[in-house]
Amino acid sequence: MDLIVNKNVKLKEVEMEDAPSLYALIHANRGHLRRFLGWIDATEGTADIEMFIAGSRQRRMMQNGTDYGLWYKGRIIGVVGLHYMDWINHCTSIGYWIIENMQGKGIMTAAVSRLIRYVFDELGLNRVEIRCAVENEKSRAIPERLGFTREGQIRQGEWLYDHYVDHIVYGLLKNEWRRA
Ligand SMILES: CC(C)(COP(=O)(O)OP(=O)(O)OC[C@H]1O[C@@H](n2cnc3c(N)ncnc32)[C@H](O)[C@@H]1OP(=O)(O)O)[C@@H](O)C(=O)NCCC(=O)NCCS
Repeated sequence: MDLIVNKNVKLKEVEMEDAPSLYALIHANRGHLRRFLGWIDATEGTADIEMFIAGSRQRRMMQNGTDYGLWYKGRIIGVVGLHYMDWINHCTSIGYWIIENMQGKGIMTAAVSRLIRYVFDELGLNRVEIRCAVENEKSRAIPERLGFTREGQIRQGEWLYDHYVDHIVYGLLKNEWRRA
């Protein structure tokens, strides 16, 4: 299901037809994205994006998460996703990226906020988690802005090409969520 964020921004579940434009975005933003995303160097062509989209569609079919294209004024500029849906424990986890020159406008905070509303109000889950590298200040600012609690730190939680980074775990519970 697509999610309307505001008059300029919407989240559309990724489909195969998005693969060429998504690959072009990633290719044009390699330097920006590879700083905190470990899969950029392994993304060598549209076929890799098609595999990602196939995996995303499968998770969607299994009701185990999905990925959304982040669309701004009719143009795809990033991705936001639910990594999984844990229906036993009523929780999920969010990840995201946006192209370099669309940062700094609050677009991702608005998109994540809309996704959280969907998770709590429409899916009925109870907990959302976001994990960010300690050094990833722009990413950490998103859960901090949205009222998440810093719950802990995971040592060497992610391998980024030639080094590990520690992760900060942020959590938000349904009864803490303030509707904007
Ligand atoms: C992490 C990432 C998505 C953050 O993007 P972003 O544009 O900073 O996030 P937002 O859309 O929420 O924008 C916040 C910025 O917009 C500004 N802003 C403007 N209007 C705003 C509004 N209405 N609401 C919130 N922020 C607003 C904020 O002041 C902030 O600016 P600052 O960075 O100069 O302090 C982006 O840096 C990225 O894709 N990085 C590479 C991939 C990555 O690290 N992914 C996360 C892995 S955990």
